[in-house]
Amino acid sequence: MKNYNIAIDGPAGAGKSTIAKIVAKKLEYIYVDTGAMYRAMGIYMLNNGISVEDEESVSKACKDVKITIEYIKGEQQVILNGDNVTGTIRTEEAGKLASAVAKYKAVRAKMVELQKSLAASSNVIMDGRDIGSVVLPNADLKIYLTASSGERALRRWKELEEKGIPSDLNEIETDIIKRDQQDMNRKISPLCQAEDAVLLDTSDLTIDEVIDTIISLFQEKCSEDLV
Ligand code: DC
Repeated sequence: MKNYNIAIDGPAGAGKSTIAKIVAKKLEYIYVDTGAMYRAMGIYMLNNGISVEDEESVSKACKDVKITIEYIKGEQQVILNGDNVTGTIRTEEAGKLASAVAKYKAVRAKMVELQKSLAASSNVIMDGRDIGSVVLPNADLKIYLTASSGERALRRWKELEEKGIPSDLNEIETDIIKRDQQDMNRKISPLCQAEDAVLLDTSDLTIDEVIDTIISLFQEKCSEDLV
């Protein structure tokens, strides 16, 4: 039986994971958060005193890293060399480390292999930076989800406020812009909108509007197979 794949790419803080998680639940697909894998790799380097700016050392060390994905009650768990790091990789620091190690060929080769194998065995909705362009070039639907950097920063600031974590809105926006630039300008698999991806700017859309749009696009695309 054919597996269906939905690819969602876009810059930091565009709401990819929030949206992808809900769409996955509605369609009963598996949600794969690929950023979490790069975050785990970045954390491994930090914990082992390896500078993420040192490509040679990172490339060598990444051979010792075993990242696996498990699901508990439908929630993705990231296992780093046997330890569940799901709860510790969500920080801004882990995001920066992830973006730094994601520049390297050896790291990407390892992550892409894992991601492709996950998509080969299930219906998945996968989000990241190179999903439509590299990991799932034949995805049934590709979405490029974006929003202005101001709006993305504001959403992240509100999220932190709700958790009682004080933060500076300008600093958040500066960090987001820096990370996007690094992800868009790297040599290997830079963040880009795949030619056949649908651009969805969510700056003025509610979460429900984005979800409904994606589900209708998917149903339209797959209408022949699904009837
Ligand atoms: O989606 P995120 O914020 O968790 O991703 C963290 C970093 O990982 C992101 O800044 C770039 C990198 N990344 C990548 O290069 N390719 C992916 N498919 C996913 C994430």
